[in-house]
Amino acid sequence: MRIEKTKQSMNAVLGEKRNEGTIGFVPTMGALHEGHLSLVQRSVKENNYTVVSVFVNPTQFNNPEDLKTYPRTLEADIALLKEAGCDMVFAPSVEEMYPELDERTFDFGSLETVMEGEMRPGHFNGVGQVVSKLFDYVRPHRAYFGMKDFQQVAIIRRLVELLDIPVEIVSCDIIREDDGLAKSSRNTLLTPKHRLAAPIIYEALSEAVKYNKELSVKETIQKTIAKINESSLLEVEYFSIVNDRTLQPIDRWEAADKTVGCIAVQAGAVRLIDNIVF
Ligand code: PAF
Repeated sequence: MRIEKTKQSMNAVLGEKRNEGTIGFVPTMGALHEGHLSLVQRSVKENNYTVVSVFVNPTQFNNPEDLKTYPRTLEADIALLKEAGCDMVFAPSVEEMYPELDERTFDFGSLETVMEGEMRPGHFNGVGQVVSKLFDYVRPHRAYFGMKDFQQVAIIRRLVELLDIPVEIVSCDIIREDDGLAKSSRNTLLTPKHRLAAPIIYEALSEAVKYNKELSVKETIQKTIAKINESSLLEVEYFSIVNDRTLQPIDRWEAADKTVGCIAVQAGAVRLIDNIVF
């Protein structure tokens, strides 16, 4: 497995690989877990060559403390990627990715005015900046993203449309711990108490689906939030039931063919997100 730190050295290899078959790409911020590795394994299965980027992108953090404490575990990530069959790791520095200030702004329309976009202003613009640069450097045939970041996947599909980037976006299922907690790099930052409390998030989401739409949308939201907030260690920031394409909240079940319940919960100092398809 190659480890490249610059666009130039990466491109020297990828130029040739591009002629030999498809390139699969998994962009990550490192601190890899089984969720990331499932994306890598899928890319390895579906492509001739797999590139994984490990880069903690400063422009998508609207909270400096979050950027500072974001886990960085490059050595361990490299070992896991080697085992998963990755062909190349791209681990650039901030200077390599941003030799100058990126002042581009993207118009993701109403996709970014709700949920994570509303709570973390500028976050998706930063994601757009880094993902468009990475797509430009790697020029993959396919790129793999986890559905835990459901809104991010919608934003990236829109980005690709806006910039007319010839890449297939492949979205992959959420990978969960045995107790249901969605795998996330941030889980390692939970205190033992918060880690024990956190599985109630998925329990509440699964219960919401089991109400089988017998409750109204509003009642489902209220009941789900109340169940999680019963724990003194957790606080729901939002729980929205949205149209899966527009991401706009619905107020009646009939308002969309497919709906997704998206949640953000503060667990001590750590913010967790999850979602479930209704
Ligand atoms: O999902 C992530 O880890 C990041 O948002 C991404 C897509 C790697 C961009 O920095």
